This record gives sequence, structure tokens and C-alpha cells, in this order.
Amino acid sequence: MMTFPPVCDYEGSDYRQNFWEGQGREYEDLSERVALRRLLPKTGSVLMEIGAGFGRLASEYRGYDKVVLFDYSRSLLREAQARLGNDPRFIYVAGNWYDMPFVDGLFDTLVQIRSLHHTAEPAALFDQLARIGRPGGSYVLEFANKKNLKAILRYALRRQNWSPFDTEPVEFIRLHYDFHPAWVRERLGNAGFKTEQTLPVSYFRVPLLKRLVPTPWLVGLDSLMQRTGSLGHLSPSVFTHNRNPSDGQPAQPGQFFACPKCATPLEDHGDSPLSCGGCGLKWKVEDGLYDFKEPTLV
Ligand SMILES: C[S@@+](CC[C@H](N)C(=O)[O-])C[C@H]1O[C@@H](n2cnc3c(N)ncnc32)[C@H](O)[C@@H]1O
Repeated sequence: MMTFPPVCDYEGSDYRQNFWEGQGREYEDLSERVALRRLLPKTGSVLMEIGAGFGRLASEYRGYDKVVLFDYSRSLLREAQARLGNDPRFIYVAGNWYDMPFVDGLFDTLVQIRSLHHTAEPAALFDQLARIGRPGGSYVLEFANKKNLKAILRYALRRQNWSPFDTEPVEFIRLHYDFHPAWVRERLGNAGFKTEQTLPVSYFRVPLLKRLVPTPWLVGLDSLMQRTGSLGHLSPSVFTHNRNPSDGQPAQPGQFFACPKCATPLEDHGDSPLSCGGCGLKWKVEDGLYDFKEPTLV
């Protein structure tokens, strides 16, 4: 199905097996966890990971009462469910981040890692997140940095035609974007977020280094380099902590889901489907998966 803005569709993908498991990315995984622990408020009521995939980072969210794993791919969410078992804190929600199925002011903390690079319209996504984030809460965002050392070197040697210093995003493969930190900060600011902290992450993402240096040492060095955030960010990955806009109201107690088409709050009595009292659309809940990708006819 064609959607607009276009979506990078991971339905049925072997992302976990093909990208993470046994693929030599322990250094990246562990360095990302170090950065996340630095930026994530330790405790809270409701957290959502946007583009959570198979729930790789779910163990980092222990301090939260409710954790929404949100993704466009039902199959990856099913993998998350299988991995995390019956932990009642986790809520699995399939949907499109341009049409968030939640009431305003709901989430204390929003987390987004390794998925902004699939966003054709970051401004539209940030507007959604500003709406559903609790006023004054946190948005921890990781993005792929186009102004990284490798890109600078390749550009200097004329082996790459796009400039890492140009602030516009670069789409290097369809629906895979690298972003300039200044551009991301400006777009976040336009949506009302205030970037408070920025960490450079994964400086040592070099196959030879990863082969020669034991992973714990590389992660330790990465952790030290993350502390150089105030000096600049030339790493391939950048983590930011952003403060949600302070205006607006927190969600009313008891309200959670809202119709992604007309924004009417939905009543959830544990039945399927959830029926919208505003536009009449119905949204399926099946085996613990809330499905807001498209309305159901039954
Ligand atoms: C590279 S994976 C990252 C998964 C996870 N954050 C991690 O670091 O392991 C990107 C994820 O973004 C999701 N995604 C892409 N476009 C989306 C959209 N429009 N709405 C919701 N999820 C989306 C994909 O389904 C995929 O699971």
C-alpha cells in the first residue's frame, strides 16, 4: 500500500538476524546503551520507543510503569512480544509515526534510536511527538550524522559528491537519510523542542578496529568520547536529549489511545476492535497487538 509520506517498510524483514545477531555489532549496541543511560530519565510513568523494531533496547526501560513499543512492522513487534514474554508493562502498537494513535500530552519520555534515518518528513514527525509528549518531558533522539569524520575524509578526497557541511539531509539510499546536527536541532526547535544535551557516539565504527581491539575497551573509549559532546560531533551517530514543549496540558488520567484519523480519544475496555466515537472507524486488537495501521471492517 502506498502511503504519504512514504514509509520504509520492515514488514517480514529479518532485521534482527541480518543486522544484529552474530553480525559483529556488539560495540555499536553497547555504546548506544551507554549513551541512552546517560540521557534517559531513570524512572517515569509512560515511555514510548518510536520505531522500536524487535525491542532490542527494551531492557533499558525498567524504570517505567508502562512502555509502548511502537513500530510500523507488525512482524517485528511480534518478535518483541516473543522475546519479552508476558511482562505486562509492555504495550505493542503497530502504526505510522505520521499518524500517532495517542492522546495529547501522554508520554513522559519518548525515545527514538536508529529510525529517524527512515524519515522523509522529520518536521511532520516532530509535530506529532510534540503533541503526544507530556509538557516538559523528554525526547531522546538518535540520528545518523552526515557531518562525520569518514564523510569529511571521503569528500576531501573527492570520493563522495555530497558535502557533509551542507545542512540539508542526504538520501544515500531510498528512504535512508543522514542528517546534519544543526538542521535536526533547528527542526526540533521549530516543533517546540529544546535540545539540552548532545553526545557523539560510535566514533570507532571501523571494521579493522573492531577486530583488533577488545569490545569492552572500545566501548570504554566511546564512553569517554561521548563526554566531548560540547567540542563538536563528528561521529556517525549522534544522541540528543530534548526537552518537550512546555505549553499544553498533560493527558487526562485514564486516557491513552486516540483515533489516528480524527484524534477522538478511544475507550479501551479490553475488547477488540476499539471503536471511534468520532468517525466510527474501528481498530483491531489481536493477541496483545494494537493495530492502527489501517482500520478493520469487522
Ligand atoms: C533500523 S530499525 C531500528 C529498530 C530499533 N530502534 C533498534 O535500534 O533496534 C527502524 C525501525 O523503524 C520502523 N519504522 C520506519 N518507518 C516507520 C513509520 N513511519 N512508523 C513507525 N515505524 C517506522 C521500522 O519498521 C523499523 O523497525
